[in-house]
Amino acid sequence: MTEHSLTRREFLAALLGVAGAAGLAGCAGAQEVGAGPVVTSRNLTSVALGARLRARAVDVDLGGRTVSTWAYGDTVPGIPLRVTAGDRVRVEVANELPVETSVHWHGLAIGNDMDGVPGLTTPAIAPGGRFTYDFVVSDPGTHWFHPHTGLQLDSGLYAPLIVDDPREPGRYDKEWIVVLDDWTDGVGPSADQIFARLTQSAPESGDGMPMGRMDHGMGMVDGGDVDYPLLLVNGRPPSDPEVLRVKPGDRVRIRIINAGADTVFTVAIGGHRLRVTHSDGYPVQPLETSAVRIGMGERYDVIVKVADGVFPLVAQPHGKPGYARALIRSGTGNVPDTARPSELDTYPADVSALRATPGAVLPGRDPDITEDIILSGSMAPYRWTINGAVYGDARPLTVRPGQSMRLRLSNMSMMSHPIHLHGHSFQVGAAGGSGPRKDTILIPPMAAVGVDLAADNPGRWMLHCHNAYHAEAGMMTRLEYTA
Ligand code: C2O
Ligand code: CU
Repeated sequence: MTEHSLTRREFLAALLGVAGAAGLAGCAGAQEVGAGPVVTSRNLTSVALGARLRARAVDVDLGGRTVSTWAYGDTVPGIPLRVTAGDRVRVEVANELPVETSVHWHGLAIGNDMDGVPGLTTPAIAPGGRFTYDFVVSDPGTHWFHPHTGLQLDSGLYAPLIVDDPREPGRYDKEWIVVLDDWTDGVGPSADQIFARLTQSAPESGDGMPMGRMDHGMGMVDGGDVDYPLLLVNGRPPSDPEVLRVKPGDRVRIRIINAGADTVFTVAIGGHRLRVTHSDGYPVQPLETSAVRIGMGERYDVIVKVADGVFPLVAQPHGKPGYARALIRSGTGNVPDTARPSELDTYPADVSALRATPGAVLPGRDPDITEDIILSGSMAPYRWTINGAVYGDARPLTVRPGQSMRLRLSNMSMMSHPIHLHGHSFQVGAAGGSGPRKDTILIPPMAAVGVDLAADNPGRWMLHCHNAYHAEAGMMTRLEYTA
């Protein structure tokens, strides 16, 4: 029996006073997300079925420095929302912010009207207003939620959304959620100030040109557009890291979520190999590696057999200074003084190394429709485009229900772009082939990749770069169903 399933069962028993409860709890039985004790990944306080979420201004302690930010509840990240595949979930969101907000359930292929994109799928929630999201969760795995309004993603408004699969054996002793973030709120300029600065850069300034800094001789990596004053794991800076405790020899499932706005990370654990088991919630054929590269919006689950001692879990940003870290403690010993595990010097596993498990393969089918998606842009003027257009000018992609669709994504810029499609997952490579199933794919500079999807969820869906600044500067389009 894994810890998380015990936690969940105990939790449900406490919440509903019954065992094996199913169906929808009324609001009277609802718990408030973000109102519980401070949550660490050892303490997966969770709410299923009926939940309340407060988007609000809070002060959080970032390792001795208190900053004001916006968050879900009292903590950054927000308390994980944990449900079981098949659950119907109602989440009442109270907007206590001074501006409109929204919640997008990143990774869930739910009904279009609950997708949380103001102006497209779901109404914005006015300041002081409330909205109840009500949907059935079909997609197990490691997901997350965040606003789909302006640059709010670059505040503390994010939290894990874990969907347990009752059919999954769970061959591990313990699990942790590790949320990575690039942080500026209250420490550096606000997201709006950063965006204003980026969009005001003059063409001749050449300031902050993302021209492929070299990374340990491994080739070109782009460094994002923003240097952040802090990089966080589970809301904690490297100077005051979270300590993840475990018994030596235990196998831990680590659910890694990149909630950053502008930072690609490579994650490694000193002295350990990682066994990658899931990508964006979908199982992959287990892959042993020393490090994992993770773009914004992506999730990877890894299993680690923890040795005896104290080990750093480090997330190194691509082409930027600093690092984020947590500590894993299974025994006695001192905190290692080298911040940088040598595992980070190996080439990290990325999407090209992964293969879907047979059960995760999208049924093979030749595409009925193929669309080219060209990603390009510039720093000065600050403009990021899909097929040459910024969002307001973009011609939406169209598909008919039941069609199979291929997207040929080509990156014609020197920045990488994590491209996310709402309401669907896709297979990397051809449907029926061996590539992983995902909903967000990091496309390196000047690279191209094809993905196939099944048009099985009618509506109007966003397809965009998960770099918050690129999306805000126009790198978004829509996939729309026609009759
Ligand atoms: Cu994670 Cu359009 O979002
Ligand atoms: Cu981008």
